[in-house]
Amino acid sequence: MNILLIGFMGCGKTSLGKKLAKQMDLKFIDLDKIIEENEQVSVDEIFNSKGEDYFRGLETEWLSNFEGEGYVVSFGGGTPCFNANMEIINSIGTSVYLQMNARLLTDRLFHSKQKRPLIEKFKNDKPRLILEIEKLLKHRETFYKKANVIFEASNMSAAKLNSLVGVLLD
Ligand code: S3P
Repeated sequence: MNILLIGFMGCGKTSLGKKLAKQMDLKFIDLDKIIEENEQVSVDEIFNSKGEDYFRGLETEWLSNFEGEGYVVSFGGGTPCFNANMEIINSIGTSVYLQMNARLLTDRLFHSKQKRPLIEKFKNDKPRLILEIEKLLKHRETFYKKANVIFEASNMSAAKLNSLVGVLLD
């Protein structure tokens, strides 16, 4: 069994992925982290020095070469939205879209210290940030909604996590 977590930046893919992996006794992988380890620089630096297309190529290359069972993988927010990545994701295992509305995403991203190249320049302007997030989310949801499971991810609790595990084991 493989579980593939997708969703917008800041929706909690990494933290939920770790908990899910622990609870279901699976191994956890964070694709951004793998790319950073392989490239020896941060995602932000990759965007700045080599550009977004290069980064998207790395994501697709990793996905195309993926094999194995027993993983929870959390992807970057853009991974499913480029090349034929969403089709590859769905061929690897059960995909889960962690859905969250633009207002909550904006609040979470506004307070996040993590550098995210696509929204960095709007970080000090919350009204502008929400507009950008609404626009990007609208475009990206056409990809995210191809997931096998759509899970409303706000107000995560132990009970909510258990309900997701239940759905995945069903
Ligand atoms: C991106 C999301 C980031 C990271 C990169 C691009 C995106 O990951 O992959 O900054 O296009 O949405 P998170 O979703 O973990 O922030």
